[in-house]
Amino acid sequence: MNHTLPAETANRLLQQVLNQPEDIKSLLPTGCEALLDEATAQSLDKAAHMTTGLAPYSQLGMQLAALHQGNLLSAELYPQLLEAEQTSLKWFKQHFQLPYAQFSHGGSYNNLQALWQARDANRKRKVVYASTACHYSVAKACAILGLELQTLPVNKQDQLDSDALAHACSIFPPLAIILTVGTSALGAVDPLQDAVTLARHYDCWLHVDAAWGGAWLMLPENADSLEWAQQADSLCLDPHKSLFQPRPCSVYLSRHSLASTEQTDYLAQAPTQRLMGSYGAELFLPLWLNLTMLGEDWFVEQTRQRLTQAAKFTALLQQHTDWEVFIGGTGIVCFSTHKDLAKLVEQGVFSLARIHDTPVYRAVFADYRTDSDRLFMALHPFL
Ligand SMILES: Cc1ncc(COP(=O)(O)O)c(C=O)c1O
Repeated sequence: MNHTLPAETANRLLQQVLNQPEDIKSLLPTGCEALLDEATAQSLDKAAHMTTGLAPYSQLGMQLAALHQGNLLSAELYPQLLEAEQTSLKWFKQHFQLPYAQFSHGGSYNNLQALWQARDANRKRKVVYASTACHYSVAKACAILGLELQTLPVNKQDQLDSDALAHACSIFPPLAIILTVGTSALGAVDPLQDAVTLARHYDCWLHVDAAWGGAWLMLPENADSLEWAQQADSLCLDPHKSLFQPRPCSVYLSRHSLASTEQTDYLAQAPTQRLMGSYGAELFLPLWLNLTMLGEDWFVEQTRQRLTQAAKFTALLQQHTDWEVFIGGTGIVCFSTHKDLAKLVEQGVFSLARIHDTPVYRAVFADYRTDSDRLFMALHPFL
């Protein structure tokens, strides 16, 4: 594609069209002012949640998606849209070396999709192992599918304890092991190599929930971890959490066949193996446009930027406070202090979490513009 406009110019034009609160206000019915204020509130020093800053072409991508309205359940009608979807999925397939992929609405759906595939691959087993730090959607998926989730202990770094996993497998070989790359509370990475070995030995499904940590896995410096993750039966990641995309944008990858978009004529042959019903451009067009216009390197640089800011924030806490700091490594920093930071939690600067039994404050570096100094400044009154 021709890069007709440099990113900054395109972005500036878009800001003019879409981000002029006064213009938009005049278009909206009265009573929507508060909503608009909320939408345009400055959020650069808010790090409570996995709410990412949007890549420059996201809004244009969303407009294009709204204009298009094609439903890829009838893919034959929308060859251009299908190509944009397949091009975007190819990026992930290549990175993760898994042959089947689809977009979805979020990590929760993907964990359900993975366990559904796993269950149908081996209906004799029912037990699923995951750490106590896994996302609650794993428990929901097990409940829906009639599976039995057994949570196993974590070590000090909030990672699944490999010995506990090995012991559990030896007593009861599971249907599936769920690993988390980037736990919700701390962003910890479970031991990939040990789990791959165990999954092979016990012939069970290995699913990697990289909803948060997928972007971290894609960095060249984490190639060792990626190599192990590539051995999984399925893996999911959420570009709407850590790759600067608007919701919903989530990716599910599998080693095992899913009814693929290209072969689905939904009236003649129902897409029975896929959770997704109707979907279209809204799931991937912003990502595709950002990728096309900015290239993969932009994503790598911005992901490194987030991680660098997380590391700087950690260093600031360590230098200037005696608070205990917990680091997951994928861009989330937690700390415990006896100071009452309820006001900052209320403002969305930090969130509350628990690491083991310790209540902690949590800073998520999801936005590539989140600045460690600004975040630390919010703590000044409490130092
Ligand atoms: C590790 C992990 N997995 C899955 C999910 C669920 O993702 P979604 O909110 O996109 O359904 C989350 C959400 O925070 C998460 O942190």
